[in-house]
Amino acid sequence: MTVSDRQTPLEARRSPALKGRVRVPGDKSISHRALILGALAVGETRISGLLEGEDVLNTAKAMAALGARTERTGVAAWSVRGVGVGGFAAPAAPLDFGNSGTGCRLAMGAVAGCPIAATFDGDASLRSRPMRRILDPLELMGARVTASAGGGRLPLTLQGARDPIPMVYRTPVASAQIKSAVLLAGLSAPGVTTVIEQEASRDHTELMLAHFGADIVSAPEGAHGRRISLTGQPELHGAEVVVPADPSSAAFPLVAALIVPGSDLVLTDVMTNPLRTGLFTTLREMGAAIEESGQRGDAGEPMAQLRVRASKLRGVEVPPERAPSMIDEYLVLAVAAAFAEGTTIMRGLKELRVKESDRLEATADMLRVNGVAVEISGDDLIVAGKGHVPGGGLVATHMDHRIAMSALVMGLASDAPVKVDDTAFIATSFPDFVPMMRGLGAEFA
Ligand code: S3P
Repeated sequence: MTVSDRQTPLEARRSPALKGRVRVPGDKSISHRALILGALAVGETRISGLLEGEDVLNTAKAMAALGARTERTGVAAWSVRGVGVGGFAAPAAPLDFGNSGTGCRLAMGAVAGCPIAATFDGDASLRSRPMRRILDPLELMGARVTASAGGGRLPLTLQGARDPIPMVYRTPVASAQIKSAVLLAGLSAPGVTTVIEQEASRDHTELMLAHFGADIVSAPEGAHGRRISLTGQPELHGAEVVVPADPSSAAFPLVAALIVPGSDLVLTDVMTNPLRTGLFTTLREMGAAIEESGQRGDAGEPMAQLRVRASKLRGVEVPPERAPSMIDEYLVLAVAAAFAEGTTIMRGLKELRVKESDRLEATADMLRVNGVAVEISGDDLIVAGKGHVPGGGLVATHMDHRIAMSALVMGLASDAPVKVDDTAFIATSFPDFVPMMRGLGAEFA
């Protein structure tokens, strides 16, 4: 499925209190991984709560093109019959990952451990994103890039290794995508593949590999890092995967409830893996009323119910080491910061420049066109909160779902409406965002 070329603008207006109880869609990171590990396992993997957004559907198509049998068996319910570790077949056509860096990079890792050639492609946003960070370690393991656009950009063709080499790899940036690509390639290598990260990134790949039967251990490394070792050539067994609600999607109704006066919302089944909850920690430091209850877990992934009430927020300083646990949430945090009293300083945001768009610039522009004083200083973003946002701006979404949703959330509480130029990309991660928010009381026109 490709996102339409026609732009679909939308305007968000100051809304009455948001009220209700919702479950946002399944976690995107876990959904990609369930399909990929299901495709590499022997036997059937049954997934419930899969995110049926365009990014994940592209991964499902890619897994089918590589030889797995994928079938939708009900609403958000999928079955995958895998080919076994190292068993992918060469796809007949290029694999199109649309807007998704995660789908593309994890699939590159999985392909790198199989003796096949596959061409990877994506939309204009994905074609502009760096792939060298993934290709460098995969080449060390024996894969080869046989064709690519300039600078290792997409479209590119990867020849997987016939005899992948296990290795010890230190990731140059805290990135779960790099770590996961190396581990997925390491599945086919004889011996132990180790990834060392200076700062821990989301560990869904490690948890799910263990759930599928791999021998994988993770130990602390330095002050904030981890050392992860995977024993290669396991037999992965198909498994049941229950996908919890995505905290990165929950972030939008959650911040909306904090800034729209009188709001009181319940978000159910939200994944609370501590490597994903930096936003909740930060918002609580800002004074947000977020109550967690009913903690439970499935396959190592914790989840809980969150009750969120409108709150008076104050500016805070967000330390750089928190970035990996909230890397996708800075846009919507910047919206909360604009409604807070006082200055919020978010430190160490270099990675935001290589997401679906340059999110550091895009966040600053989104706020600026709506009358908020904002500054980028090196890799830091500084927002001067004044307790209210003038609004009235038109926000450029740059093919980035999270810019669109953040700007629409801002418009629900700003003095004048906020308009976004294109909502089409919201379908990559949160297809029901607009109707779900309307159901809670949001006014979009
Ligand atoms: C993801 C990792 C993050 C994040 C992305 C999803 C994942 O990227 O931004 O949305 O599922 O592994 P990096 O690992 O490159 O930081």
